[in-house]
Amino acid sequence: MATDALTIENLTVRYPMRGGVLGRVQHFFTAVEDFSFSLKTGEILAVVGESGCGKSTLAQALVGLAPWTKGEMTLLGQAYNPASRKDLTLIRRQMQMVFQDPFSSLNPRQTVSEILMYPLLARGFSRIESTQKIKETLSLVGLSTEALSRFPHAFSGGQRQRIGIARSLVLSPKVLICDEVTSALDVSVQAQVIQVLDEIRRQAGISLIFISHDMQVVRALADNVIVMYLGQIQEKGSVSQVLSSPKHPYTKALIKSIPTLDREHPPEILEGDWASQGIPQTGCRFAPRCPQKTSLCTEGVIPLEMVDSVLCRCILNRST
Ligand SMILES: Nc1ncnc2c1ncn2[C@@H]1O[C@H](COP(=O)(O)OP(=O)(O)OP(=O)(O)O)[C@@H](O)[C@H]1O
Ligand SMILES: [Mg+2]
Repeated sequence: MATDALTIENLTVRYPMRGGVLGRVQHFFTAVEDFSFSLKTGEILAVVGESGCGKSTLAQALVGLAPWTKGEMTLLGQAYNPASRKDLTLIRRQMQMVFQDPFSSLNPRQTVSEILMYPLLARGFSRIESTQKIKETLSLVGLSTEALSRFPHAFSGGQRQRIGIARSLVLSPKVLICDEVTSALDVSVQAQVIQVLDEIRRQAGISLIFISHDMQVVRALADNVIVMYLGQIQEKGSVSQVLSSPKHPYTKALIKSIPTLDREHPPEILEGDWASQGIPQTGCRFAPRCPQKTSLCTEGVIPLEMVDSVLCRCILNRST
């Protein structure tokens, strides 16, 4: 049975919002709230949701780039405190992040060899060991060693993203977090990067958290999916179950809005946006935009509940 590579319990990230002449903290904005999940070894877990729902904040919190207001992390069986610098160094040995934009995340003045060598030398590997590791990693992401002497501008977008992935992989992490790594790429190049990520999971046994707003890409790559809305998990289950028979009205709306070439069945765009509706203080956060809303949806706290082996935060799905 696959073991858990990563377990997160009740992760909450609150950003201080400053204002006024003195720039004092006036209130806090909760970007991620009580987020709990586990990631199995070799699993690809997708996190989907609209812009601003907190996907990048979640990714950044996992590698210590966003503050933990609350929460617990267990990585490869070991409990860590991500607020501690010492623990963060240990966490980053096992968990690395690939960023969205391959153009700005690579230093244009460094060759690929320098880009990949630096993290290894900083970690204490010799040049000979580092060169060997770099060659192995390049082959894993489908680039030849000829790439080593070239600068990032001499590559296409897809190749650059593969260099970004290689940079995160040279340190042999066990968990890789990919934040919108395919969204800056055109469709054919997206497919290459997806293939590379799948290969990495199979060959290196790495677990992936794949953040995306593209349901088609998620369907092609991931095993399980978390649907996120305003910082909360709304639905979580296997990709096949969640995408073929979604339970939460928000998941249904996301799936109906997938672009299609079929003129007979054009996508249905979800009306409104969370920012203009405000964040409900009680009940379901999606209620202001939900086409199936009832008067009960705006009351109390709505927990995540198991419905047909899928977790769902919606009272309409309660069996009793
Ligand atoms: N450093 C910060 N300070 C204050 N608020 C922030 C900060 N970073 C993000 N936010 C807010 O947190 C919310 C979630 O942002 P985040 O970048 O995580 O969303 P996202 O789901 O990744 O969106 P996108 O799909 O556009 O990348 C947004 O409302 C954003 O304005
Ligand atoms: Mg983002």
